[in-house]
Amino acid sequence: MMAHTSLYTVDPLGQEDAALLRGVADLLVIAFPTIYAGNVTQALADVVQFAPEDRSLVARDSEGAPIGWVRMEHFKKQSSAEIKLVAVHPTRRRQGVGRTLVMAAEERMRIIGCVTMLATVGDTRGRTNLYGMDVTEDAPRLLANFACHADHPAGFFLKIGYRLVGLLPDAYGPGKHDLTLARRITHNEG
Ligand SMILES: CC(C)(COP(=O)(O)OP(=O)(O)OC[C@H]1O[C@@H](n2cnc3c(N)ncnc32)[C@H](O)[C@@H]1OP(=O)(O)O)[C@@H](O)C(=O)NCCC(=O)NCCS
Repeated sequence: MMAHTSLYTVDPLGQEDAALLRGVADLLVIAFPTIYAGNVTQALADVVQFAPEDRSLVARDSEGAPIGWVRMEHFKKQSSAEIKLVAVHPTRRRQGVGRTLVMAAEERMRIIGCVTMLATVGDTRGRTNLYGMDVTEDAPRLLANFACHADHPAGFFLKIGYRLVGLLPDAYGPGKHDLTLARRITHNEG
């Protein structure tokens, strides 16, 4: 077991427990309605695909039900890793579960020698002040003045110590950018 609180535990997600895998798939469908559009089969395929090699962690409540999930990736020969997805059940948000999952993922990546954790979040729905803008003109100034709505996940990453370090302009269409946040994980004071 990697981490324990009185309310939930965080462990690597293996492939053995079919009911747990299905529970995580249900969680992803709820947490990412635009990605999965109710397609539990697709969510389950993703969960199963990333279960090996300790690339994902699950948070479970005291009855064993999944309440959160994080998937991280480490690219060979690189000293940075990336949070690919992190999800917490809507009824368990703003209780520290997301932060605990990200910190547990950071711990695993630090152990294998990673120095920096990245997180990439897109804005396809106008939830940041960069939406709709041509960011190629003056990206440093725009990044310095970044702001987002309360329902955009960039706010979560900023709150737990990540900083906006760059963006991929127009990744999802004109004015719909991908934002990259990062945090040094060699000292975990986030
Ligand atoms: C983003 C998400 C994982 C956050 O999980 P969570 O368990 O609610 O986060 P935590 O409770 O650990 O929050 C840690 C801190 O960030 C703050 N926070 C959480 N979400 C926030 C948001 N969207 N904007 C600003 N701050 C936020 C919390 O209030 C808390 O602040 P505190 O330290 O002052 O108490 C969750 O909202 C979620 O599953 N969203 C849908 C999926 C998603 O968008 N994932 C991220 C992209 S991959």
